[in-house]
Amino acid sequence: MNRRTFLSSSLMAAGAMSVQSAAAAGDLTGKWLSGKKSQFTMWQLPSFRNDIGNSYIFRTSTGKVIVMDGGQRCEELTLRGFIGALGGEVEAWFVSHPHGDHMGALCEILKNPLDLRIRHIYHSRITEPVIKAEPEVCEKDCREFYSLLDNCQLAQVTDIQEAGGEYDFDGMHLKILSVANDFTTNAYNNSSMIMRVWDRRKSILFLGDAGVECGRKALEGPYRQYLDSEYVQMAHHGQNGCDEHFYRSIKFRACLWSTPLWVWNNDQGKGFNTGILRTFDTRVWMDRLLIKEHHVSCVEGIFRLD
Ligand SMILES: [Fe+2]
Repeated sequence: MNRRTFLSSSLMAAGAMSVQSAAAAGDLTGKWLSGKKSQFTMWQLPSFRNDIGNSYIFRTSTGKVIVMDGGQRCEELTLRGFIGALGGEVEAWFVSHPHGDHMGALCEILKNPLDLRIRHIYHSRITEPVIKAEPEVCEKDCREFYSLLDNCQLAQVTDIQEAGGEYDFDGMHLKILSVANDFTTNAYNNSSMIMRVWDRRKSILFLGDAGVECGRKALEGPYRQYLDSEYVQMAHHGQNGCDEHFYRSIKFRACLWSTPLWVWNNDQGKGFNTGILRTFDTRVWMDRLLIKEHHVSCVEGIFRLD
């Protein structure tokens, strides 16, 4: 998804308006366990071209690398470099949903892996009516992604169609809280896998590009308690994703914004907060919730969390 399709999808959406450890249970009470030993490091990667995209990398205590999304096609080389610096092998790659700004770089890597190794790819396949519910450019990207997965020799591919599964990477827990939906409003975004990642020290909720409907369904679903986390990746790059009710309903204390400058400032060329995006709605909601800690990819660059 490039800038033009991101802006047009924002317009459309605006119109449509286990292995649970005792430590994780402690997190759910809202007592952030900063004294405990970290089991993993997480990096929030900015777009190196100030473009829309979502990219997170994790390294466990024994050096396993896990990737979430990875950004769009143009981020391929920097992403390869980052993974290469961590050893060049990805234990698990989770794709929230099949928009190009989330799986584009992975598509390029799958076409030509070079010396990069991936052991496992996890995603949640959207249905045919949902695939067809978006503009042709998104549908084309999505079908290419699925073709690459269907013919993938590089990695084992798992299609997750039920929430609740939990993975343990050396004490880094990852739980799937929501999978692909059949909403045809804001279709691909509302099919975002919602995931929670935690260890004994910290917890992070990843909302992908979840829209209002996806967020409400998660709030009413069986994994509601897992939505409470210390950090929250703001849905849909911080604008026109989950609504204020969602953010008011969960407990968190800090925000991760995977957001380019023109989205952060809602500036599509005519000045500060003059565009069509709703970033400032979300920023006001966070002020009302008295959230003080913000990690904004376009402002901070690479953010590292231990
Ligand atoms: Fe996105």
